[in-house]
Amino acid sequence: MTLPRALVVLNMAAPSRERLNAGCAPTFLAAGASREDLLGALAGAEGLLCSNALAVDAALLAAAPHLRVVSGYGVGYDKFDVAAATERGVAVCNTPDVLTNAVADFTMGAILAFSRRLVANANFVRDGDWSAHKAAPPLGVDLGGRTLGVVGYGRIGRAVAQRARAFGMHILFHDVFTEPPDGLPAEWRSLPGLLRESDVVSLHVNLSEETRHLIGGTELALMKPSAILVNTSRGPVVDEEALAAALHTGRIGGAALDVLEVEPPPANAPILRAPNALLFPHVGSATAETRQAMLDLAITNLLAVLGGEPPPACVNPEVLERALRRS
Ligand code: DGY
Repeated sequence: MTLPRALVVLNMAAPSRERLNAGCAPTFLAAGASREDLLGALAGAEGLLCSNALAVDAALLAAAPHLRVVSGYGVGYDKFDVAAATERGVAVCNTPDVLTNAVADFTMGAILAFSRRLVANANFVRDGDWSAHKAAPPLGVDLGGRTLGVVGYGRIGRAVAQRARAFGMHILFHDVFTEPPDGLPAEWRSLPGLLRESDVVSLHVNLSEETRHLIGGTELALMKPSAILVNTSRGPVVDEEALAAALHTGRIGGAALDVLEVEPPPANAPILRAPNALLFPHVGSATAETRQAMLDLAITNLLAVLGGEPPPACVNPEVLERALRRS
């Protein structure tokens, strides 16, 4: 029996390639491949394995009439047109769970980096300012006794809360449900209530039309002047222009952002020049073990659907009956 054809737009080491070769006939395209090359390579493919940063839109799906599965490397799937895929009977898969701890660790690290001014202090020494007896960076703040507000109390939000509790923080959360699903101490608040009461606001929602610019000028105006905003979810959840303005006027204490509205940001993005902003290049899940676990799960998802088996993680399971059947 011929193996199903799959287009793979991801770099990977030999053992992962071998796993793919055992379950499908992969064609590899470089991550920066042109749209034209992508469209051409998709024509006969039954599977697509790619970064979740690739825009898999309706036109791309239309160019792939045999496609049965889009397996994304990452938990977020905001760049995939799930409605168009569902209409075509294409399963959309992602990699939840395996990156929860890595992203939660990073978020806690960003909170600590900000509250203890780790970057400013490290630069103080590196720049020779300590030796020159210049004034040290301003003092940091303790986390113990302060309040963390988690917006989006899913897997990652709860894992951040778990870490913050160990630092003595009180936890507030905002989500569509009002009881903490893990039963651990955390109090629900409306979004305005959470913004008013929190010393640290950490965002953990999916990007959707409902959450685009969830935090804008109105919301930032509700926050304490000393509060920091942490975003390790998706850049467009925050109105970056409004945030840059709030940082310039000192309306809030600061922001730690692992995600930006446009990645990488254009050189003239106002957030790049905003004071009290710690910016990172979307590395929340970037540990060697976690990235390998994400790749392993993305390959498992792809091969499962191509082999006619339900995948471990599918965001539109209603299409599986169709997707699992090879035409
Ligand atoms: C994810 O998995 O969605 C991370 O943000 C990396 O893209």
